[in-house]
Amino acid sequence: MKLLFRLFLLVAVLVAGGAAAFIWYLRHAHAGVSARAQPTTVEASLATAMRSAATPAAVRNRTNPVPATAAALHEGMEHYADHCAVCHGNNGSGQTLLGAGMYPRPPDMRLPATQRKSDGELFGYIENGIRLSGMPAFGGAAGSTEDESWKLVVFLRHLPQLSAEEEQAMERLNPRSPMEMDEEKKEADFLKGSGTP
Ligand code: HEC
Repeated sequence: MKLLFRLFLLVAVLVAGGAAAFIWYLRHAHAGVSARAQPTTVEASLATAMRSAATPAAVRNRTNPVPATAAALHEGMEHYADHCAVCHGNNGSGQTLLGAGMYPRPPDMRLPATQRKSDGELFGYIENGIRLSGMPAFGGAAGSTEDESWKLVVFLRHLPQLSAEEEQAMERLNPRSPMEMDEEKKEADFLKGSGTP
């Protein structure tokens, strides 16, 4: 019993010491909890490995019930341009204003690190989000249906082959404020020869 208590004490001291050392490191080497620093390769790969390991096999092994037809791809593309591109970019690169300021950053989803994940794993991230990151859950209370999330997976698989024309078409589907829509209309009217610039 005494031994068990000592062991417990040792673990408690190690955990408290580790936490204190980590806080000291953040204060001195990282400008506090600033998200401006680029996550190091070690930190990013450790976090990603832990996230993959924590994904239940029942989620990982799910297969996409939606066949990869042109219609499913188109629906996924529309939904992505509307809800995902603001962070991930239409082309999936993650090079966006919001993405560049996040910690962790949205990954380049065209690369093997994302593409070799199973359909079930990608679906799980879309439906349930990713804790301690900017990736929101789109299932449940957010209101996306499973069918919509599976179509998004169909689109994510297409990202590495996305053409310049498709990317251009997506730009027209990105969210706009009423002011931006108004400006675009004025510009179009002006180009047609009516209205003031
Ligand atoms: C508010 C910003 C934001 C929005 C909106 C967003 N994401 Fe994310 N997403 C992230 C961030 C940040 C990560 C990286 C999380 C991490 O590394 O732990 C991420 C990660 C992911 C991943 C995991 C990729 C991998 O390689 O593990 C997938 C898949 C994904 N997002 C899909 C989507 C889809 C589909 C949508 C739209 C329905 C979406 N995201 C909307 C910020 C966002």
